[in-house]
Amino acid sequence: MTTKERSIIANPALAAEGHLKIDWVDAHMPVLNRIKEQFVKEQPFKGLKVSISLHLEAKTAYLAKVIQAGGAEVTITGSNPLSTQDDVCAALVEDGITVYAKYKPSPEEYKSFLIKALETEPDLIIDDGCELVTLLHTERPDLLKTIRGGAEETTTGIIRLKALEKEGSLKIPMIAVNDAYCKYLFDNRYGTGQSVFDSINRTTNLVVAGKTVVVVGYGWCGKGVAMRAKGLGANVIVTEVDAIKGVEAYMDGFAIMPMAEAAKRGDLFVTVTGNKSVIRGEHYEVMKDGALLANAGHFDVEVNKPELLAQSVSKRTVRNNIEEYKLKDGRKLYLLAEGRLVNLGAGDGHPAEIMDMTFALQAMSLKYVNEQYKAIGNRVLTVPYELDEQVARFKLESLGTSVDTLSEEQKAYLQSWQ
Ligand code: NAI
Repeated sequence: MTTKERSIIANPALAAEGHLKIDWVDAHMPVLNRIKEQFVKEQPFKGLKVSISLHLEAKTAYLAKVIQAGGAEVTITGSNPLSTQDDVCAALVEDGITVYAKYKPSPEEYKSFLIKALETEPDLIIDDGCELVTLLHTERPDLLKTIRGGAEETTTGIIRLKALEKEGSLKIPMIAVNDAYCKYLFDNRYGTGQSVFDSINRTTNLVVAGKTVVVVGYGWCGKGVAMRAKGLGANVIVTEVDAIKGVEAYMDGFAIMPMAEAAKRGDLFVTVTGNKSVIRGEHYEVMKDGALLANAGHFDVEVNKPELLAQSVSKRTVRNNIEEYKLKDGRKLYLLAEGRLVNLGAGDGHPAEIMDMTFALQAMSLKYVNEQYKAIGNRVLTVPYELDEQVARFKLESLGTSVDTLSEEQKAYLQSWQ
């Protein structure tokens, strides 16, 4: 069967638009392009199958093409029902990549795509939110046999992998791409910060200046969202469960308070905790009429949707990606992108220059896992510092600059106790 015959996508006729999108990001991903050049020469994945589950838009498509250029037979599926772009899928199929994905599949279809990506019996996987790994460790352990290892993209996925590892149940080596400096410092902070407002602004077409924005969670993503909200002129409130992060938010100039209080004050809420039910029934009861609710955490469990529905007398779509919930007392609350991560469900995700570094790390980490999987064993591995630093050096070189180098005298000074 050809790639085209195997693939399941919405509309092959959209390929030309998809190619344009991929060409645009290619021109803005110089670090990944350096790695592509190396891969073309070295063919690190020659004869191997790689299955990827990531938000399937243009930057991800380009990563898939880089891995293909390294010799791999690549299969790709989405990692969220709303973030897949059908034109990008069509372009990838034309380029010889097997795609199982479409925008807004049913939950059953979405899961069947993940399983199909694993049924290709890959040697290596790239996962986002631990979805492939979860299937491999629950319903389809039979498909573990060919897998040498893989790489995980996000915080939520790594929390799950570490829980599996702690229990002694992890059956493959997985490298924690999210925990590399060149990932969370830039992707989680600057990428999420910018793209969350890019998507909220275009979805709502409302002003941010003067509004009270409540950022729920002051981790790497939350810091970025709060910083950009402030830059747009909002009054920012942060809620946290970690006292140290609470002090950090306060010192960064934000108001910090429990959600019970913030719920009364917010005009726009953005959840970025990786936790569940951080906005729930008791909070809806006290929110202002017209409050906007958005989530940028990995799963759609941060804003409790069942409780919101239960407290509502009606629900309707009032704009693309905005649902109005009318509460029993007449107040209306607006949920963006069905409570799924707003920057991908209602936007194009992080800027290309940010994903350039993240996906350079992904590509290099996958190569590393393939070379070292026997030595690594079934555990969660941190990205080696040399790889992380190399991405940063490539990034600076692409900007036409560099950092200084320690002299031998300075090295000796820094290593001495005297
Ligand atoms: P992090 O671990 O750095 O921060 C999460 C913060 O939320 C922590 O400080 C924690 O104390 C806080 N928190 C937990 N429960 C809370 C509660 N009930 N109320 C208030 N605060 C609470 O994690 P990071 O890297 O910021 O990621 C957060 C989420 O965003 C994860 O699900 C991650 O997978 C996802 N993510 C989304 C991206 C996007 O493009 N939208 C990009 C990168 C990560």
